[in-house]
Order: sequence, then C-alpha cells, then structure tokens
Amino acid sequence: MKTPGKIGENQAGPRERAVARATKPRGDRAEEVLSFLRGRDEYVSGARMSRALRISRTAVWKHIVALRGAGYVVDAIPSRGYRLRNAPDLLLASEIQRGLRTSFVGRDIRHFETTDSTNRIALSLAETGAAEGTVVVAEEQTAGRGRLGRSWFSPPRVNLYASVILRPSLPMAEAAQVVLVGAVAAARAIASMCDGPPEAQPRIKWPNDILLGGRKVSGTLVETASQGELLRHLVLGIGINANLAEKDLPEDIRGIATSLAIACGHPVSRVELARRLFGEIEASYLRFRQEGFGPLAAEYETLSEMWGKPVRVTLTQGSVEGIAEGLEPDGALRLRLLSGSAERILAGDVQLLR
Ligand code: BTN
Repeated sequence: MKTPGKIGENQAGPRERAVARATKPRGDRAEEVLSFLRGRDEYVSGARMSRALRISRTAVWKHIVALRGAGYVVDAIPSRGYRLRNAPDLLLASEIQRGLRTSFVGRDIRHFETTDSTNRIALSLAETGAAEGTVVVAEEQTAGRGRLGRSWFSPPRVNLYASVILRPSLPMAEAAQVVLVGAVAAARAIASMCDGPPEAQPRIKWPNDILLGGRKVSGTLVETASQGELLRHLVLGIGINANLAEKDLPEDIRGIATSLAIACGHPVSRVELARRLFGEIEASYLRFRQEGFGPLAAEYETLSEMWGKPVRVTLTQGSVEGIAEGLEPDGALRLRLLSGSAERILAGDVQLLR
C-alpha cells in the first residue's frame, strides 16, 4: 500500500500509467525539503537543509526545482537561501492530508494531473484490493463520466474530481442508498465553503444533484461491483465545480450549471473543499453503517425542496409526471401520479414543474 503523504505521485497500474500523467515526480526527499520550509517564515540556507536532511546541496536544489515545477513558489536569494512563499491549490495528497481529520477516507490518496476518469481508476484499484477509503483525485478528466451515460465537464485545475472506494456489506438492492449518503455529504461540504447569500445554500435534487441558486454545482456517480446478490465494493465519484468561471461554462450547460465561485461570490480552496468533502463522506458513511439509512434519509429530505411539488421525471425511455412525495426505504423516488397511484423511480432526471 502507498505510504500516505507523498507529494503528487500515483501508484496506478500499467493501464493507468498509459492514460494518466502524474504531477511531476518528487518523492519523499522533496517532501522533506517542503516540510523543512513550511512554517519557517524566513530564508533557510541550502547548507542548513543539506545538513539537517543529510542530502547534498545539489540535491536540495533539485528538489526545489521539482517543487517549483509542481506549482510551489519558492524564493531563492544566493546569500540567504530559500523561502516558501506560496503552496499551489493542487489536490496533492500531501496538501489534502495536512489538515484532514478522517480515520480512513483519504488516508490513501492517488493524485493525477490528468486522467480519463477517476471512477474508472478507482474501480480498477478496488478490484486489485485497495483499502476502503482510498481516494483517486485528478486535476483534469478527459472522459469524466456522468449519470445516465452522460459525460462530466472536467477542465484542468479549477474543480474537484474525486472517487472514493467503499466496501459496505450490503445486498446489491441497497447500494443505491449510498448514493444518497454521498449527496448529503457533498451538500454539507459545499454549504461549509460558501459565504454567499441564503439563496446560495445547497439543495439536493434527487438523486444526487446539488444545486446552488437553482443551478447544478455538483454531481455524484456511484459505480458498483457485485458478487451474486451482494455488493463487493463501490466507487462514490463526486464532481464539484469549484472555481469555474461563468465564461468558461460550455454552451450546453450555461444557465443550468454553476460553481462555488459563481454562486458564493468568492473563489474557494479546492484543497480545503476536498478535506471537508472527505470528512463529510466518512461521517455520513459511518453513521449509515451504524444507524442505517433512516437518519440520513431524514436529513436528505430536509435538504431537498422538491417534496409535494409537481415534477417531470425523464426516464431512459419516455417521461412521467406526478408529485414528488418522498424517498422509498431503498432510496428510490416515490412519485404520486395523476391517476392517484404511486410509482417507484429508480433512475431518471427530475425537473421541477413550478
Ligand atoms: C452526474 O451526472 O451528475 C454525475 C457526475 C459525476 C462526476 C464525477 S467527477 C469524479 C468522478 N469521476 C468520473 O468520471 N465521474 C465522477
């Protein structure tokens, strides 16, 4: 297993290496150089670091160059040495884990500068035995996967794309509940990052869209592997638009998508967002394992504002209209049709009619 805290590296298999370009390799020593500079608001000479870390001054310099390559701003003055001026807002394991308060979610983070889909990588890591709570994050996805076979817009270095491996002992029929657990966690993390107006507080649209000001800021895609009737593992993939600017929204989602920066009126730290998201996922998931779906379903229903309202649900084939009544025990949507009968909706796209 990967030692936590390594900067910007990943341990993907050969296929992953073929599709994923990792952040510049730096390794343990670069991290020691970084730790040495961190928290020292002064210049530190190369000689001092070389003695303390038992590496040559040339090696110190090489690590500084590598850190700069990854986006760290390190000042250098020949007579005084080095000083860390700025750390990048990159989703590096070492950055996220510095302030992470979880016991297992995000204790092993695989970071990719670019990859096709963090869900795909997480699924393949889960197959080869990666521990529960292992997270795959990427700065960019070239084939981000959305629900119902759609794609997920994933431009570089502005948003959060993360996939968490979970291994609950559940019958397959109950796996959909974890989708809703993920939505509650994402909504809580998003709420904690937004200093915006009350109307910019997150609301959940079934099953797991998070809206800010009525526009989608986050989506969740759960992918599962089964063994007979039982769930073997699942990947909870969450995309959150963090610092995406209005002008950078593609035509087809302009007006219906937003970002934290747009809705809250200020940019956010993606690293802090990732820490809070992983913290909320762990808390919600542990609660789900201990107390079942009931308490989370109640919170989910409070965070969603569609109950009692008329909706249209677009299904894979056709659509159906009715009043959104609430959640079924397995996480399905209960829809009261005009005929008076109730329908269980397992997958679809909900549109509020007024
Ligand atoms: C949706 O359609 O609303 C779900 C979008 C899920 C996107 C996330 S981004 C991280 C993870 N990797 C993927 O390929 N998809 C999910």
